[in-house]
Amino acid sequence: MSEATDYSRETESLDNCDVEAAYARWAPIYDLTFTAVFKPGRRALASASSKAEGPILDVGVGTGLELPMFEPHTEVYGVDLSEPMLRRAAQRVEREKLRHVVGLYKMDATRMAFADASFACVCAPYVLTVVPEPEAMLDELARVVRPGGEIVLVNHVSRKDDPLAVLDTWLDRHVAPRLGWRPQFPWSIIGDWIDQRADMQLVERRLLAPFGLFTLSRIKRLPVGKDVEAPAEPTALEYA
Ligand SMILES: C[S@@+](CC[C@H](N)C(=O)[O-])C[C@H]1O[C@@H](n2cnc3c(N)ncnc32)[C@H](O)[C@@H]1O
Repeated sequence: MSEATDYSRETESLDNCDVEAAYARWAPIYDLTFTAVFKPGRRALASASSKAEGPILDVGVGTGLELPMFEPHTEVYGVDLSEPMLRRAAQRVEREKLRHVVGLYKMDATRMAFADASFACVCAPYVLTVVPEPEAMLDELARVVRPGGEIVLVNHVSRKDDPLAVLDTWLDRHVAPRLGWRPQFPWSIIGDWIDQRADMQLVERRLLAPFGLFTLSRIKRLPVGKDVEAPAEPTALEYA
């Protein structure tokens, strides 16, 4: 299923301290900077996640820009590593009376305090490229999602024909820790992880606006081993 790795992982290593420091700096200006560009991805993720029959966990909820996009009948929990980001999410829940948001917690996405199989859906909008160990985060998402449930991811995935590939490489080598995310992120990180798990199946992979910069991935936790064909690589952009 996964492509050959086209990119080496030369990124200066991020650690949780870099991430917390970066998001303490981003928090006051985050909504001004990132509302519009990430909006189609948040909408696609919230729409896919809202189909879950049971509680939804939003991992890396940030300032909660996606929270109003979940359907009102849902039951959404949010976690984030950054207190300044979470404070803003809590203010949003209060201000916009988002009754479907039932809890916000400070937690590390790679070590969450939820029991196994607690959620019908676990989603992570624009987070996988931010955590120092994406495979460890995927393992943790898989632990807390129920068999039959889905992991829904939206994040930037590097492509050979990506107009921003050169910029990604430069940012990766020079400023990733200060940015608080990894600009260069090969699909193989997700694809290889799925290949190594008998209980995980990619059910959808689609490019999103703007310009196909972001990818939505839906990964199902199977009750038993794999029995479904992997979807084809995305060919069309979706402008959600
Ligand atoms: C780019 S922001 C995305 C926020 C929000 N989901 C959105 O769409 O605007 C990434 C978020 O992931 C959080 N994060 C990074 N590493 C984390 C970790 N290990 N555990 C939990 N949250 C983490 C950051 O604090 C930040 O709020």
